[in-house]
Amino acid sequence: MSDLTTRGGASAPDHGHGHGDVPADDLARPLYEGPGALPAADIPHRPRRSDFDPKAARRAERQVSALFLLSMLMVVLFVVAYVAIDPYADVYIPMFGVVGFQTFALGLTFGLGVFCIGAGAIQWAKKLMPDVEVVQERHSLASTSHEDVEAAEQYERGKEESGFAQYKIIRRTLIAALALFPIPLVVMLRDLWSPKNGSFGPSPVELLSTTAWVEDMPIVTDGTYVKIRPEDVPVGGLVSALPENIMEIQEAEHNLNARGKAAIILVRMEPDEIRAQQGDGWDYQGILAYSKICTHVGCPIALYEHRTHHLLCPCHQSTFDLADAGNVIFGPAARRMPQLRIGVNAEGYLVAKAPFAEPIGPSFWERG
Ligand code: FES
Repeated sequence: MSDLTTRGGASAPDHGHGHGDVPADDLARPLYEGPGALPAADIPHRPRRSDFDPKAARRAERQVSALFLLSMLMVVLFVVAYVAIDPYADVYIPMFGVVGFQTFALGLTFGLGVFCIGAGAIQWAKKLMPDVEVVQERHSLASTSHEDVEAAEQYERGKEESGFAQYKIIRRTLIAALALFPIPLVVMLRDLWSPKNGSFGPSPVELLSTTAWVEDMPIVTDGTYVKIRPEDVPVGGLVSALPENIMEIQEAEHNLNARGKAAIILVRMEPDEIRAQQGDGWDYQGILAYSKICTHVGCPIALYEHRTHHLLCPCHQSTFDLADAGNVIFGPAARRMPQLRIGVNAEGYLVAKAPFAEPIGPSFWERG
């Protein structure tokens, strides 16, 4: 048997913090004494202002309600931002630089919505719920025949002490705030819909079906941006590569989206080792180009085992056979690696011969 103490204040002696000599009878809300009540601990306690000043208690009540109302307002603003702001508009934010305006607005409103509910709940607990130290005797862990009765009593005590029934405006605003809270999650499901006639802008399928790769686009190395000749890719080697214009796109769009979508790997094997491709003659003298983005959940891949021609994703170990059209041979990926058709231009540099024939990235989007 030992004590489990919480804050208490039956007689509340002062310890230099003021208001310590306020008798318990003067508290705005007397200690709960119904079923399940616990005895007050015999320890020093400093009452809060809202314990003895009805005006302070009402002020705290208004503060809590205001926070819940603010949360509701943020949810409404979230929806407005989602519908009204151009998804491709940028805005300059000090310290962050140029960011997507809609993304910033959605994050800000959703974050503030969550914050206000949390802050309101904390304020409620700190200023209005009982600030009492009580003693609870530990009991045997074995179940008793009165367990259900005790649980009901504890529930009643919690309901009474929290003031859930007493503070009607808090209760109603909290319920309303929680009711509105799932709306952003539902609204964002719109992203899964394919637009009709482009009315909602490009769908995820369209976005991931379109990369910077177009016919005759030169292939450059990732990092040094040097055009690649076939002889630069050794048999058994792997080269990470990008389209030649990637830096221009990046600077124009102020983001890395195009780079993320267009990243490819070049591997070279003996032509007779290639068992299948995604299109006839899509290689160039044994050089194959595949998307670098895993079709599971989008990790970049560059772990290549040249003897087996297996490409291994480090995230969840999906394995693709690049000698067999990039098909999945192991792991959670549900779709093969998209292959890029390549060739050489008049100057002898490797180029794309066509855009990707299927969406790159997680296979989820393919079904959008
Ligand atoms: S992201 Fe590649 S296996 Fe999961």
